[in-house]
Amino acid sequence: MGLTLVEKIIKNHLVSGEMKIGQEIGLRIDQTLTQDATGTMAYLEFEAMDIPRVKTELSIAYIDHNTLQSGFENADDHQYIQTVAKKHGILYSRPGNGICHQVHLERFGIPGKTLLGSDSHTPTGGGIGMLAIGAGGLDVAVAMGGGAYHIQMPRIINVELTGELSSWVSAKDIILEVLRLLTVKGGVGAIIEYSGSGLANLSIPERATITNMGAELGATSSIFPSDEVTQKFLKAQGRESDWKALSADTDAVYSQKHTIDLNKLTPMAACPHSPDNVHPISELGNIKVDQVCIGSCTNSSLADMLKVASIFKGKTIHPEVSVSISPGSKQVLTMLSKSGALTDLISAGARILECACGPCIGMGFSPISKGVSLRTFNRNFEGRSGTADASVYLVSPETAAASALTGYITNPTTLDLELKIDTPEFFDIDDSMILNPVSADKYDEVTVLRGPNIKPLPIAEPLAESLKAKVLLKVGDNITTDHIMPAGAKILPYRSNIPHLSKFCFNQVDPEFSQRALEAGKGFIIAGANYGQGSSREHAALVPLYLNIKAVIAISFARIHRSNLINVGILPLTFENPDDYQKNELGDLLELSNLDKDLGNKDNLVLVNQTKSISIPLKGQFSDREIEILKVGGLLNYTKGK
Ligand code: F3S
Repeated sequence: MGLTLVEKIIKNHLVSGEMKIGQEIGLRIDQTLTQDATGTMAYLEFEAMDIPRVKTELSIAYIDHNTLQSGFENADDHQYIQTVAKKHGILYSRPGNGICHQVHLERFGIPGKTLLGSDSHTPTGGGIGMLAIGAGGLDVAVAMGGGAYHIQMPRIINVELTGELSSWVSAKDIILEVLRLLTVKGGVGAIIEYSGSGLANLSIPERATITNMGAELGATSSIFPSDEVTQKFLKAQGRESDWKALSADTDAVYSQKHTIDLNKLTPMAACPHSPDNVHPISELGNIKVDQVCIGSCTNSSLADMLKVASIFKGKTIHPEVSVSISPGSKQVLTMLSKSGALTDLISAGARILECACGPCIGMGFSPISKGVSLRTFNRNFEGRSGTADASVYLVSPETAAASALTGYITNPTTLDLELKIDTPEFFDIDDSMILNPVSADKYDEVTVLRGPNIKPLPIAEPLAESLKAKVLLKVGDNITTDHIMPAGAKILPYRSNIPHLSKFCFNQVDPEFSQRALEAGKGFIIAGANYGQGSSREHAALVPLYLNIKAVIAISFARIHRSNLINVGILPLTFENPDDYQKNELGDLLELSNLDKDLGNKDNLVLVNQTKSISIPLKGQFSDREIEILKVGGLLNYTKGK
């Protein structure tokens, strides 16, 4: 029986376990990336492991999230990351050099390699044929130290693309169609592997748009084969020697198979407030637009920007629409500038932001109250734009640009527009904003600088034999990491300051939670299905740890967040019977006993609700390794103790 492409890469990197769906496997990690919002924690954790130099083939620290500076905090974080990177053998991509996933694709992604990144959209690298996975900072720190990354062997879902996209329909519409088909839960426990005749006309940035938003399917990763299109891209980036051909065997067996005929797709939008609430633009009616944001790690390539510039050329943006452009990298911005396309964007009235995440995390360009924002981004959760009551629609660059001109959500095929882009044969290569670390023998010469914004990490105690505490919070289904630990310009500068951040934990859900938790000294959270979906931010686990949360008992968990809870030493437990969720209320006194014995025995794990005098069966479903991590109080204690 032949192997899928994913199985081939896993087989080459397998350090423990067997490739049987659902079984825990350990993977050797070739490359790591961090971004600054998660990076400070990842490097504090790496330092706590006392390993002088990273052991990966390549590790890189990008600065792209908290680039706006209204005080010393972000600057402190950048300085800390720059010095820690220099000392420990990590490349440092300076603020202004671009968004991690776009730059990584351009300069570092290699087909067949494994990449672990402390950002949930790390699977973008799958566009170039990498097995690229998003994880919490601690997992990335362990990988930098040479440790394996553990996941459950995923199901492999094959999405076959046939035919060819019509004009004005693009890669964004493909992934929106996949989201419509599979939903935000459809990729859980799976890796999506693309194949088919339709791939021949999809460039690497287009493939990367698709793998990027695979994160919104809940998928562990997404991947495309490495073919002539990949070779051409690497050649244009001056990296042809990094190329090799990679594809699945013709008799590979998949868990599921879907086919999408590209000819049948039309421009689409993910409507508020979920990326899988997808509808054809033609069915949306007249929706007035207040803001259009073009960029983010999903759609900020040179080709995306050139398309928008071509649509804007010689025209003026609608007077009631505010448009931002965030090019994905310095390479993209430089080439836009040299080609004259930047002038077309500026002349039309767009506001040019720096090459960074910016509006995607509510930084510097929030929509008006109750406003409609049309974005080429990947997430439209409530509040993520920085405006709690805004409605965000996710669309392609073509639809975004057409709508910016008309002032309402517009199907670009209905306008008499011209799309003329010349993608160059070679990209402009200038890596001067990527700084090298010192050589290993100069390690002692570098001092890691820690400004006052860099606060120590909270670290869990070893697991107690029994836990008796109150329910400090009860939440419903689909709680995102944005609900747990909101982003936004007022909060993001404190990503390395957990005590300050804790004041904002769950504040859109229950503003009194953090004070109540601090006062209680220990407690439980009760949650619905898909708890912790969304970004990889481990702050959504570290802050509850700081607030004395000992266990989260949910109907189900999102993959990365479940790992992050285990990594910091918080128990993620699920109800054996989902209806038992209803039986526990805020303030109920709960007890878990015999944890040292019963954590590994799924039949014995019982929650006693003392307030209601009832026993509720739970599921842990922990691997032996996870049980050991939980017992010693988290992955950091576990790694240090080995
Ligand atoms: Fe940045 Fe938004 Fe992507 S925060 S990494 S542009 S999802």
